[in-house]
Amino acid sequence: MDDDWICGRLGEDEPWVLGAVNPPVYENSVFTFETAEELGEAIKNEDERYVYWRGTNPTVDLAQRKLAALERGERAKCFGSGMGAISATISSLVSAGDHVLVLGAVYGPTTQFLRYLEKFGVTHTHVEDLAHCDSAIRGSTRLLYFESPSYMAYQVVDIAGITAWARGHGLVTVMDNTWSTPLFQKPLTMGVDLVVHSLSKYIGGHSDLVGGVVVGPARLVRPLALTEYQLYGAAMSPHDAAKVIKGLRTLPVRMAAHQERGLAVAAFLNDHPGVRAVNHPGLPSHPGHAVALRQMSGFSSLFSVELDTESREKVAAFLDKLRHFRIGVSWGGFESLVNAPALSTEESVRATMGIPVGLVRLSVGLEPADTLIKDLGLALEGLVA
Ligand SMILES: Cc1ncc(COP(=O)(O)O)c(C=O)c1O
Repeated sequence: MDDDWICGRLGEDEPWVLGAVNPPVYENSVFTFETAEELGEAIKNEDERYVYWRGTNPTVDLAQRKLAALERGERAKCFGSGMGAISATISSLVSAGDHVLVLGAVYGPTTQFLRYLEKFGVTHTHVEDLAHCDSAIRGSTRLLYFESPSYMAYQVVDIAGITAWARGHGLVTVMDNTWSTPLFQKPLTMGVDLVVHSLSKYIGGHSDLVGGVVVGPARLVRPLALTEYQLYGAAMSPHDAAKVIKGLRTLPVRMAAHQERGLAVAAFLNDHPGVRAVNHPGLPSHPGHAVALRQMSGFSSLFSVELDTESREKVAAFLDKLRHFRIGVSWGGFESLVNAPALSTEESVRATMGIPVGLVRLSVGLEPADTLIKDLGLALEGLVA
């Protein structure tokens, strides 16, 4: 299937009303019925029928159909944030007494949510890689959760390898695919059961949206759409769904530009004496590069570098010197952003997570690569001097 076409037009096969190239935004909290019986039937199938905005809405539904097609899943459910999708998905799969295996580094609030679940009797264990899974699995383990590339370190997980292991042990797998977008990596085709995304990053693309999605087979997505989605209330608004649809229209061209700029900036930093390491799976020197080439068709532009310093002050001075990278926490937008855990994470947490003081995360935007390279070169001058 042609992904460019999926991004632009899929799910929009209804006739274009008035010749409009964009679908209407259904700004409706409620939908009405001819008979009471019809309403009763609709309520039983509220993930598919339009009853009330907290269940679904035609604009949200269109965004869901497009995302499901692009990710090669049967169903998608959009949420009001990535964390909304992640917390609802994990909750739908575990009960009191269950255990979750977490492979590699994952987004901080995902770990926080797993810690929160401890008060309901759900425990979890972090493991570094597949080699440690056999000793960490318990009789009560139900779920294996991971990201690839991993959070902050951007290590690559062999997706087919880990899903084969999980299936062999009867575990459900959930993977956060936000880094790659469904354009560059399709985990469901490699055995992952459910894929989650923050839509707030590349898919939105314009830093004007917070949203999330879970994609997978109807047998797993339907129950959580009818239960956790309705009860937690992290519903996506039709306005945000329209932004998702708009983001998908330009995703292929934006991702091509992000990839090109990200790799150019990473290659420059890889050769710089002020930089100890560049964690970008698209670089041939990255330990996961061969696996990445096997399972991904492209690279986004979020990566980290380790500056050659042990000084928080020097890291802060580097960030402050940058003119084209703005200092901020998110990523995947049109604008380049920079962030350093040594400055934004509590010192004890940073040390426990094994994050070096000099680690800096870069989200390369759509500015010309030359401009960004010059900016980084000037900021690094102070550091090596
Ligand atoms: C990898 C990853 N997953 C999930 C999330 C959560 O998404 P949201 O901020 O939309 O809740 C983030 C947010 O930064 C993220 O970086």
